[in-house]
Amino acid sequence: MSGPLIVLVGPMGVGKSTVGELLAERLGTTYRDTDADVVATAGKAISEIFFDEGEERFRDLERQAVQDSLARHTGVLSLGGGAVLDEGTRTLLAGLPVVYLSMDVDEAVRRVGLNTARPLLAVNPRRQWRELMDARRHLYEEVARTTVATDDRTPEEVARAILDAL
Ligand code: S3P
Repeated sequence: MSGPLIVLVGPMGVGKSTVGELLAERLGTTYRDTDADVVATAGKAISEIFFDEGEERFRDLERQAVQDSLARHTGVLSLGGGAVLDEGTRTLLAGLPVVYLSMDVDEAVRRVGLNTARPLLAVNPRRQWRELMDARRHLYEEVARTTVATDDRTPEEVARAILDAL
């Protein structure tokens, strides 16, 4: 059975796309991102999907995108930061080489801070980051085979740590 070589999960801004692209290059494979698939399917930006149709609808589209990618893609795949909130999505990840890219709250505020393009962080970024991490940390850990902390590492060092860990 084929499937993705590596699946990256972790909060927004942790570097999933940068690291994912680096890993794909190192492994001579392709990189895919479920956020991009959702945008292509819906024909609108993620912030518009949240605004027009709500988070629940977004999670449904996201689960579908994850399922399609897992079935077809054999390279490096990254999931949106909140994909693990959906139980169906977590079930799809069982047994796969999932890597949790982590960062602490201070680092998240430094890297992402207030980012209106990311609908979940539109107000009070520090409090929202703390709540978001508290709600999600255990879910990332539940689906992941291994955790790689990114706080004081460059994307190259993170990619190396992932290859060493798997
Ligand atoms: C989200 C993270 C985003 C995107 C959406 C919701 C979240 O993905 O899926 O804005 O709930 O954390 P990235 O982690 O790729 O930014």
